[in-house]
Amino acid sequence: MAMAKMMAGSCSCPAPLLSLSPSVSSRLSPACDVRTTVFSGAFQARKLCFRSASLRESFSLLGEGASLLLLPPAAVRAGKPRRRAGGRSFGSCCWRAEATSDVTELNQAWQKKKKKTARDTNVMIVGATGYIGKYVVKEMVKRGYNVIAVAREKSGIGGKASAEQTVVELAGATVCFADATDVDSLKSAIGSRGRAIDVVISCLASRTGGKKDSWKIDYEATKNSLEAGVAAGASHFVLLSAICVQKPLLEFQKAKLRFESELANYGNGLTYSIVRPTAFFKSLGGQVQSVKGGGPYVMFGDGALCACKPISEADLASFIADCVTDEDKINKVLPIGGPGKALTPMEQGEMLFRMLGKEPRFLKVPIGIMDFVIGVLDTLAKVFPNLEDPAEFGKIGKYYATESMLVLNPETGCYDADATPSYGNDTLEAFFDRVVREGMVGQELGDQAVF
Ligand SMILES: NC(=O)c1ccc[n+]([C@@H]2O[C@H](COP(=O)([O-])OP(=O)(O)OC[C@H]3O[C@@H](n4cnc5c(N)ncnc54)[C@H](OP(=O)(O)O)[C@@H]3O)[C@@H](O)[C@H]2O)c1
Repeated sequence: MAMAKMMAGSCSCPAPLLSLSPSVSSRLSPACDVRTTVFSGAFQARKLCFRSASLRESFSLLGEGASLLLLPPAAVRAGKPRRRAGGRSFGSCCWRAEATSDVTELNQAWQKKKKKTARDTNVMIVGATGYIGKYVVKEMVKRGYNVIAVAREKSGIGGKASAEQTVVELAGATVCFADATDVDSLKSAIGSRGRAIDVVISCLASRTGGKKDSWKIDYEATKNSLEAGVAAGASHFVLLSAICVQKPLLEFQKAKLRFESELANYGNGLTYSIVRPTAFFKSLGGQVQSVKGGGPYVMFGDGALCACKPISEADLASFIADCVTDEDKINKVLPIGGPGKALTPMEQGEMLFRMLGKEPRFLKVPIGIMDFVIGVLDTLAKVFPNLEDPAEFGKIGKYYATESMLVLNPETGCYDADATPSYGNDTLEAFFDRVVREGMVGQELGDQAVF
């Protein structure tokens, strides 16, 4: 069972079980490794329970049967300070954590999978026509897997790609046309191929980030692909999620977290890898052409409200492909960024001016403007429900302008660039250079141009 449970340790309280969603357990890293039988870490109960709204959100997203124990203040006060294995001191009441995952069972399932070569492994990829999905298909084909790419008859931004174009685009894969929002359609399309599935990779995502669409795709359709995959024999599921779900304020983040939690708690020998990348290049290249044409670099606040370690499509696809084979990536939540240091918008702008040989010129927009627009849209949406999504898009824009795409330290509540792993070789500088020369072809944003 891929689920971490916490038991009251140093207090003389009853021994209630507290299930942790993957997002929470990832914050407790390195103590929370579900493949070890006993965690040696100790956590301050009050911090764990009350630290932030996002943690509470994660608890409430747990599935049926999960319970959250809020330690009574008296018990918290009665708790004795303890020392963690790493030597850090915690005040108040400390808990000892124990994992209940069955190491033997996990390893057996994994060992069985490892015996197969890439050529014998059938991998179903949903969201195969997306910005990342296309690269994952390419990478898996390159590595010699049997790839079954699931697509819609009309795919891509605005549904512009025909079935024929999709088959050409996903060369090397068997393209299977189905509707991921309909589990029966998905099951029968996969079943009609007459091949068992070994691994499912989901790169599905709402193309708009709208409220309903997020739940329909990031939760329901992704869950359908899990069900259809498992029905066809899949025993490993790789999920493309996002690092920003650590602080879930937006609807698509909540939908993703719900699915992450269900995936991690699925059981039945199903293993998983939850990949949470930082920013994609496409989200950062939008100003290259206007700056090249003499425009200012536009940023919010002082340009240092947030930072990210951007990762290219190809590098991320390679990391996702590694999740099919690497034992250290099973049953893990994996935040991942690209190479190099974390960059603020100001630093990205400076890099761009340097490359273009131009004098830096910035336009700093007060973040209050966004708050004002969101406030107006939120108010109007109460009367005109069709404004709900525009209000949500405003919130998405503000989130990306103010929150870093880096690992969030649950103890300090701060983003931590050093704790955000790097992977791959493609740098933002090389990407900017390419966009200067070739433009943003292939880097278009989604249907609402918010991500
Ligand atoms: N942008 C960033 O900086 C960033 C950073 C970290 C993480 N992420 C996350 O990465 C994920 C993937 O992003 P992406 O840019 O690759 O996504 P994308 O280009 O928008 O692709 C989405 C995929 O989902 C499919 N899909 C959407 N709606 C569907 C529907 N109704 N029925 C069937 N399929 C549907 C699309 O199929 P069609 O082609 O048929 O539409 C496409 O294959 C997202 O979850 C995002 O949150 C993004």
